[in-house]
Amino acid sequence: MRAESKSTSGKRRLVNKDTDSRTPLNLSEYEELAKSVLDKAAYDYYRSGANDELTLAENLQAYKRIQLYPRVLVDVEQRDLTTSVLGQEISMPIMIAPTAFHKMACTLGEIATAQAAEANETLMVLSSLSNTSPEEIAGSTKGPLWFQLYIYKDRTLTKSVIQRVEKLGYKALCITVDAPLLGRRERDVRNRFSLPDGLRIATVGDYLEKSMAENSKTSSLNVYFASLLDQSITWKDIEWIRSISELPIIVKGIHRPDDAIKAIEHGIDGIVVSNHGARQLDTVPATIDLLPSISNAVNGKLEIFLDGGIRRGTDVIKAIALGARAVLIGRPILWGLAVDGVNGASSVLRLIKDETDLAMALCGISRISEANKDLIGYRNA
Ligand code: FNR
Ligand code: LAC
Repeated sequence: MRAESKSTSGKRRLVNKDTDSRTPLNLSEYEELAKSVLDKAAYDYYRSGANDELTLAENLQAYKRIQLYPRVLVDVEQRDLTTSVLGQEISMPIMIAPTAFHKMACTLGEIATAQAAEANETLMVLSSLSNTSPEEIAGSTKGPLWFQLYIYKDRTLTKSVIQRVEKLGYKALCITVDAPLLGRRERDVRNRFSLPDGLRIATVGDYLEKSMAENSKTSSLNVYFASLLDQSITWKDIEWIRSISELPIIVKGIHRPDDAIKAIEHGIDGIVVSNHGARQLDTVPATIDLLPSISNAVNGKLEIFLDGGIRRGTDVIKAIALGARAVLIGRPILWGLAVDGVNGASSVLRLIKDETDLAMALCGISRISEANKDLIGYRNA
């Protein structure tokens, strides 16, 4: 509702009583507001991409080159955004990507994220590098959870993590394969990024040795990866995990059709076409540009998910139209947490769901599964 009021200067101005001017209207505005409330080192860690951040920009730019060709005079009165991922029903084709260290964004940390996921009837992928243990998260939500796994050099530790999450009712293992070493994010190097005092990597105890961090000229997370994670893993290690766990396996970080085919050959249940939010190898293409050839090669033999740069409902439609079953969002959830904890993360999910719903109506599709290549065109670069 709009009402006229007098400003202190006496001039008439329009005041919108219903919308606080600081309420973010979209995911980018959430980032702006989050930036103003987060510590610099935390904001830098969350936002950064590797090296020159060319892929970071590209993940967003690529969506701007794709155009939508809507159908008209289609009955879109009833719209259905629900889908299923590995048999799990969710209210929209948008899930929460695994991201580390949610307690840098808000005190409840990953518990807030899990509650936002549950409130929006979607699925959260819990990071191996969470500040909250898988036990606490499982105890804090009835919503479906997947666990993102990093494979440690210490296989007894790796096995015990897998067995813990399996027992706790996590519904799948999402194994991240694009990070044998951590990419170099120059802001983190400059800030000598380390976890703030009092926060820990809850899944495996405090492996992030303070002395390493203090003596290090780089981000302590890079030191953590180099010393604890296994740089030698191959498809054989995925087979090993398959042999010790009944959980479905998703491989996260696929860039190429031939690797997608290997995933099929190894009986993998799903892949995430992901460049880790542009934080690993710089100059790789935007994930949305990798999707068509991967989808073609996979030909329905496993479920394809995609993340990286999804910020608008139209981005969601484009990803589904080009072959993803669902997408995941990473940073926008962190911005929501930083702005307003559970409510902020929840509002981010609602905003992008509502945008997707509206974009569906305007595209002339009533079910999300009807989004296909027919809708898509490419603008010349
Ligand atoms: C990540 N990502 C990530 N991936 C993973 O498998 N394990 C992890 O612990 C993390 N941690 C992490 C921290 C932060 C701060 C970011 C931004 C990203 C990658 C994440 O799962 C996802 O691939 C990207 O975030 C998707 O891109 P957008 O949505 O952030 O553009
Ligand atoms: C990152 C790791 C933790 O991207 O996956 O920072």
